[in-house]
Amino acid sequence: MEKIVILTGAGISAESGLGTFRDEGGLWAQHAIEDVATPEGFARNPQLVHGFYNARRAQAADATPNPAHDALARLEAEHKGEVLLITQNVDGLHEKAGSRHVLHMHGELAGALCQACGDRWEAPLVMSPDDPCPSCGTAATRPDVVWFGEFPYHPDKTEEALAEADLFAAIGTSGQVYPAAAFGQMAREMGAHTVELNLEPSAASQDFHECRLGKASLIVPTWVDEILSMSSGG
Ligand code: OAD
Repeated sequence: MEKIVILTGAGISAESGLGTFRDEGGLWAQHAIEDVATPEGFARNPQLVHGFYNARRAQAADATPNPAHDALARLEAEHKGEVLLITQNVDGLHEKAGSRHVLHMHGELAGALCQACGDRWEAPLVMSPDDPCPSCGTAATRPDVVWFGEFPYHPDKTEEALAEADLFAAIGTSGQVYPAAAFGQMAREMGAHTVELNLEPSAASQDFHECRLGKASLIVPTWVDEILSMSSGG
């Protein structure tokens, strides 16, 4: 049965009211990456970094999934083969929509991580540099998100999934951040049919057999309907 692997990025959550990074007025136009999304920035000013992620955590907590998230949850529930989401998003909207097989390659706003002992726990809505780790007591807690200069999570499972995929789709991602930007090429070289669904062609468009342009809330449900009707032989 066909194995489907889907990479998602900030564009899928844009219509849930969460800002993307590189669109006009996006997060990286408002904040310097080196200040809020690097280990060095955190070492320099942990209060600033916690403030940035506290604000994003609060927004994500209030956000609801849009029809694109819902359609991917429906795909997982109704497709007879395997469906795996690999998301760069830290907002938790795929799970809120009902998806269960989700790899968070850039971590999650809902997670906290101790830099001293590596323990992980559920992040409170507001984190601060003085928070002690519940396990070792050190005040070295950080959001459990992956920053620039760090390694994305789940590399082995990701590589295996890309190698086994029959169908690979990238949704709402600009194709500018590696390694995710290379997943289309990797999956294609390993034999998958590759589809890009995005508002505009991404920097990695050439790696896809098909490119569907438009808002995720419109084009993703249509695409999911097509796959489900094909796999049911309808
Ligand atoms: P970007 O902000 O780089 O790209 C978002 C993409 O979504 C763009 O190509 C937009 O055209 C598209 N888009 C915007 N609105 C859309 C909509 N309604 N429907 C469909 N597509 C839409 O976000 P990412 O590619 O996710 O990493 O960024 C990748 C990584 O860079 C993030 O995980 C984050 C960031 O820096 C870290 O912080 C480590």
